[in-house]
Amino acid sequence: MIPQRTATSSTLTLHVNDTAHTVTVDHRATLLDVLREQLDLTGSKKGCDHGQCGACTVLLEGRRANSCLLLAVAHDGAHLTTVEGLGDEERPHPLQQAFHERDAFQCGYCTPGQIVSGVGMLCEAAEGHPSHATRREELQRATGAPAELDRDEIRERMSGNLCRCGAYPHIVEAIEDVREHVGGGTDHASRRTEEVTA
Ligand code: FES
Ligand code: FES
Repeated sequence: MIPQRTATSSTLTLHVNDTAHTVTVDHRATLLDVLREQLDLTGSKKGCDHGQCGACTVLLEGRRANSCLLLAVAHDGAHLTTVEGLGDEERPHPLQQAFHERDAFQCGYCTPGQIVSGVGMLCEAAEGHPSHATRREELQRATGAPAELDRDEIRERMSGNLCRCGAYPHIVEAIEDVREHVGGGTDHASRRTEEVTA
């Protein structure tokens, strides 16, 4: 839609978890604040509000993004997935289930960002994107081949998500539990991951 503007606000549409929302936003509002305060989607957390902790991670057009750093007014028509869009109590995303089973949290404040980031990271790896930790021999493989996710790779790829409770060992284990299922395209984990990033 064509944004309706005043000097300080604009009306735009955000597609969040497959639902279109038309909202009038202050030009200074971040996507995080619009999600939390105008759309009542409070799963995405405000930790640092400066792009340092990852608590606000969402998928923007299928890619991980720190929503505290993005002005909403610049994203008219954007497609977002928040933790609420991954699954719910009746049908959790496999990574949500793995976090639960591995007890991969303490206070839980970082957990939504960790899970959304984990889902985005698994998709990036399945698409063959390398990381800083990717070994030379891995880089020489065919372009687009799924990346091998050992613990160093998982830690590096999740390094943008901080956990002040230090739940990192169990977070890595939860991701390990799910990694085998992403990229094959036939099982529940892969289908759910494809659904949320479609
Ligand atoms: S709240 Fe966005 S990165 Fe910390
Ligand atoms: S579980 Fe408390 S900050 Fe991560």
